Amino acid sequence: MSIKKKILITGGAGFIGSHVVRLFVKKYPNYHIFNLDALTYAGNLENLKDIEDAPNYAFIKGDITDDVFIQNIFETHKFDSVIHLAAESHVDRSISDPLAFVKTNVIGTMILLNAFRSCWQGDFQEKLFYHISTDEVYGTLGETGLFTETTSYDPNSPYSASKASSDHFVRAYGETYNLPYVITNCSNNYGQNQFPEKLIPLFINNIINHKPLPVYGDGNYTRDWLYVKDHAIAIDLVFHKGKLGETYNIGGFNEWKNIDLVKLLCRQMDQKLNREIGSSEKLITFVKDRPGHDLRYAIDASKIKDELGWTPSVTFEEGLELTINWYLNNEPWLNSITNGAYKSYYQKQYG
Ligand code: NAD
Ligand code: TYD
Repeated sequence: MSIKKKILITGGAGFIGSHVVRLFVKKYPNYHIFNLDALTYAGNLENLKDIEDAPNYAFIKGDITDDVFIQNIFETHKFDSVIHLAAESHVDRSISDPLAFVKTNVIGTMILLNAFRSCWQGDFQEKLFYHISTDEVYGTLGETGLFTETTSYDPNSPYSASKASSDHFVRAYGETYNLPYVITNCSNNYGQNQFPEKLIPLFINNIINHKPLPVYGDGNYTRDWLYVKDHAIAIDLVFHKGKLGETYNIGGFNEWKNIDLVKLLCRQMDQKLNREIGSSEKLITFVKDRPGHDLRYAIDASKIKDELGWTPSVTFEEGLELTINWYLNNEPWLNSITNGAYKSYYQKQYG
């Protein structure tokens, strides 16, 4: 079978990246998928065990901030497309160590852009740099309104500031060097393989272990939740059909206040674990708020819906159930990453 595309996916051992890698490896046997990942605390090759021997898949361990290494792999493999997901991705960690976010999210993205550019020397026919970003670059909404693709950037956390900066560089390379790019800004993802530092998997793990559920502030913060496999499907669609130089917002049409989401999660977990209904809710503990906590994110995803025909395929209740089932059936995965360094992170963050 002749290879039609050589795609570099960065951050493929992480949460969203692993779902994107699996989808592409399985759906496109004539694409060669190279997964580049530094395997930080958030990267885990166990996420890709089922496809690691696929003939159209290769893993490359490496850091996107290593300029010489990145130039070399581009010279060797001549990737015609990049789907760039590698990032430091957790807001709380960005508050305690912002510089790490500038290094990976800003400098790392620049290094990839430079390598892509110098590899193709302006001959960008059939090439694509696809940058994966977040709705957090838009800052916060009040009680009403939605983020659209034309909402001004107004990031409030070091994480969102670093992602906003990387988005600007991708756009600037498009304008300045005609680099062919597309950017998507997605809302909060949840699903299988998410590291238990983000709200949903952290709380699932704590419920399993009868530990307190630390809700920041009064819990009246709102997020728009999307099932990770629906994000991967949207990425596939934008990769193949998105217009160059465009941005697409991706969201779940699914806003939840944290406290309501946590109560739903508690009820579903009680049922799954055969615990008395109401017992997990008793674990809810209101703790000190996150500094600079954005009140509300909500995406207007009508552009990707109208232009590319994408909508989420599962409801939140269905997605949450699939997610809970996965965590309950994969306790070894959960246990192996909640040992060691996770314990010191947890202690530092939650006391
Ligand atoms: P994640 O933290 O689960 O995974 C990040 C991956 O990147 C890990 O495998 C890690 O090892 C790798 N990585 C980190 N630094 C690296 C470096 N210097 N070099 C090479 N690899 C490195 O993140 P995620 O939640 O899967 O997010 C993936 C992308 O999607 C990020 O760009 C994030 O900003 C974006 N995003 C995430 C969400 C969400 O809700 N999780 C929503 C919208 C957008
Ligand atoms: P998170 O999953 O960290 O995603 P993001 O900050 O990128 O939206 O948090 C989702 C929401 O849940 C956010 O409003 C912060 C809140 N939250 C808590 O209340 N307690 C927690 O322990 C965590 C991790 C998050």
